[in-house]
Amino acid sequence: MDRATEIRLIAQLLELHARGETQYHETTRSHATERYTSAQWFAREKERIFRNQPLAVGAANEVPNPGDYLALDWLDGVSLLMVRGADGQVRVFANTCRHRNARLVANGESGCRNRFVCPYHAWTYDSQGQLAGAPDFERGFVGLDKGRLGLIEFPSRVIGGIVFVHPDRNRRVPADLLGEEMLSGMRYLDIENQQVYKRRSYVIKANWKVLLEGGIEAYHFNVAHKHTLAPFFLGNLSTWESWGGLYMRMILPKKPLLEAPDLPETQWDMRRMANIIYTLSSTVLLLAQPDNISLIRMVPLAVGETRIEEVLLVDRPQDGGSEWSADELRRHETNHNLVNKILMEDWVLGETIQANMQSGVVDAVHFGRFESALTWLHDEYERAMDVEQMVVARQV
Ligand code: FES
Ligand SMILES: [Fe+2]
Repeated sequence: MDRATEIRLIAQLLELHARGETQYHETTRSHATERYTSAQWFAREKERIFRNQPLAVGAANEVPNPGDYLALDWLDGVSLLMVRGADGQVRVFANTCRHRNARLVANGESGCRNRFVCPYHAWTYDSQGQLAGAPDFERGFVGLDKGRLGLIEFPSRVIGGIVFVHPDRNRRVPADLLGEEMLSGMRYLDIENQQVYKRRSYVIKANWKVLLEGGIEAYHFNVAHKHTLAPFFLGNLSTWESWGGLYMRMILPKKPLLEAPDLPETQWDMRRMANIIYTLSSTVLLLAQPDNISLIRMVPLAVGETRIEEVLLVDRPQDGGSEWSADELRRHETNHNLVNKILMEDWVLGETIQANMQSGVVDAVHFGRFESALTWLHDEYERAMDVEQMVVARQV
C-alpha cells in the first residue's frame, strides 16, 4: 500500500470509530450449512476452485537459498515439494519419484540439499527437478529416456514474495494475478525480506471456510478473544477492500489508532495502529502485526478437515549478521506462541461449529451487516463455484 492509501485507510477508520460504526453490508445474509458439510459441495469446490484456480502455496522465503526445500501435505492427497533451484528460481514439484512413485521427502520436512535421493531405489533428482542419476539405469530401463523422467512440475510464479501454483498443469499462473493494489500491499509488508522464524503444523476438524471466516471479522474479538486480543483492539471495527477473486485486505485497528488525531500525519503508521490481514486465494492468510507476519496456510484435506500451518515471518537480525540476538529470539518465540494461542481460540470454536453443522440440527448461518467481509467471501465463492448453475443442475 502506498503512503496515500495508508493515510486514507487510517482516516476512514477514525471516521468510522467516531460514528461508532464499521464497514457494513446493506443487508443481513443467510446461507445453508450444507456448503460446509456436504460432500457434493466439497467435490464442486475441488473442481471449480482447488483444481481450477491459482493457489497460494507459501512465501518464497520459506526456501531462501539454493537447495532449500519444503515438503507440504497439499490438496487432493498431493504432496508438494517446493525447492529453490541451484539457479535461484523457486519451483514446485510433486513429491513423487518417477520410478515407482515413492515419496522423496516426508511431508512437513524442510532443509537444504543439492540432491533428492529416493529412499526406495535411489533415483536421484537435482534441485531443478532433473533426474540426475539412477542405479544401473541403462541396463534396467531399456527404452526409457532419463531426460524425460524429471519430477513433475506444477506451473508456479512468485508474486510479491508469495509462491502461487496452478493445480492444472496445462495452465499458467498469470503475471498480473494480484492487482497493483495487492502487490503494493505485499511491498509495504516487505514479504520478500522476511525470514522464517518457525513453523507449526496440525489438523483441525473443520471446513476451511469456517476457519477462514474466523480470520476476517472482528465481531468476535471481545468475546472469543476476551483475554488475548480484545484489550488491544477497538472492538467490532474493521475495513476491508477486495480487487476480485478470493483476494482481499482487511484492516483491524488497535488502540494506538486513537492517538492519530493528535499526531502529525507524517507519524501515522498502519503497522503500529492496526493489524493487516490479506487473504491470498483460498489457501493462505497473511496476518501482519507490528514486527512479524504470520502466514497461515489452510489446506482442505476433507469437507470437515483442514491442515493448518502457521509460519512466523520476521525481520532479518537487526545487527546485520546471520543470527538473531537473544532479545530478538525471545520476542519471536513469544509471538510464535501467542499467535498459536489466539488461533487455537478460533479453531476450538471452529471444531464445535463443524460438529454442530454436521449434526444437522440447525441448517443455516447468518452474517450480520458488520460481518460484511463474510458476505463478500461467500459472494466470491458463489461466483467461483457457479452456484446458480449448480442449483439449475439440481432441479433438472
Ligand atoms: S520408487 Fe523411487 S527409486 Fe524406486
Ligand atoms: Fe479470531
